[in-house]
Amino acid sequence: MKLAMGSDHVGWELKQEISEYIQSLGHETVDFGAYSSERTDYPKYGKKVAEEVASGQFDGGVLICGTGVGISISANKVKGIRAVVCSEPYTAKLSKQHNNTNIVAFGSRVVGVDLAKMIVKEWLEASYEGGRHAKRVNMIGEIETQE
Ligand code: RB5
Repeated sequence: MKLAMGSDHVGWELKQEISEYIQSLGHETVDFGAYSSERTDYPKYGKKVAEEVASGQFDGGVLICGTGVGISISANKVKGIRAVVCSEPYTAKLSKQHNNTNIVAFGSRVVGVDLAKMIVKEWLEASYEGGRHAKRVNMIGEIETQE
């Protein structure tokens, strides 16, 4: 898989480790910043990664800020994006199986590196189940078409 990655300054260090881990699992990653601990703003990276994923050029995205909250909210403003913020692997797995999430987010101030790896692994290995879940996921998409 090809994954788009982004973080703010709080998440960039964990992002390096998670990017290497994703690559070790046999996937490709592209980092859209931030590239240092210099203070910056999470909405820029949430938006950028979300646009890249929504364009269809990536199989998914991984976003990290202090809590994962601000950067996932930002990503969810982009049409076609279903970003989940997780602090444990069960939600990550179910979010892919039931909600067809295309971005996973977490907080570098919330999870350690080992837990972050578990979250990412479960999310990458899970598949959308469709079926009874498809109607509801389609209903999410319909919200985007309403003013
Ligand atoms: C930055 O201080 C912090 O607010 C940000 O990383 C994130 O936690 C926001 O949701």
